[in-house]
Amino acid sequence: MMDSVLDSLFDKGWVIDRTLFGADEIAALRKACLGQWQDGRFHEAAVGRGSGQERRSEVRSDSVLWLDALREDPAVARYFALLDEVKLAVNRHLYLGLNDLESHFAVYPQGAFYQKHLDRFRDDDARTLTAVLYLNDDWQEEDGGQMRLYLDPDCRESLDVQPEAGTLVLFLSDRFWHEVLPAQRQRLSVTGWFRRQTGQLLW
Ligand code: OGA
Ligand code: MN
Repeated sequence: MMDSVLDSLFDKGWVIDRTLFGADEIAALRKACLGQWQDGRFHEAAVGRGSGQERRSEVRSDSVLWLDALREDPAVARYFALLDEVKLAVNRHLYLGLNDLESHFAVYPQGAFYQKHLDRFRDDDARTLTAVLYLNDDWQEEDGGQMRLYLDPDCRESLDVQPEAGTLVLFLSDRFWHEVLPAQRQRLSVTGWFRRQTGQLLW
């Protein structure tokens, strides 16, 4: 991973990279994602964790498919290999102690959105670094679906990220509020969270 990307992540807590994933890798991921979608393998996304999980379509209206079961798929294996490089580089530079990665494909059908939120759960502080990768060719401004990343805790300043193929956004999961604006066409992505070892001691 490029030093400038790591420096920027270190300085600001977020960064956008457009070089790590090549066009072929993105195309293969998009194909895998659409294949699973057409086979009806996705489920409507929930909010919260464990027994606190609930569907709240007024909060988010995307559908997701966790990638654990798809590790044999070459495109998915390549995704995990590249994200592993990110993990190693980030751990070396930033000492975040990133450990495992949980990832899902997400499909936002036309009209879908995800309201402003933080990625860390109230009852589980292991999610440390969020990695969102976009799979959409020729995304236009009027297609909506931008990720609005709020740069300060009071959400005064923000940045809109176009979900264009090959764009990878990294940010600290507990620091940055963000939302997905309503998408005007189908929007595909892979969202991952690097978890760190939490303080639980197992005697
Ligand atoms: C999420 C999320 C952002 C995006 O899944 O938690 O915020 O741009 N995704 O898809
Ligand atoms: Mn999020």
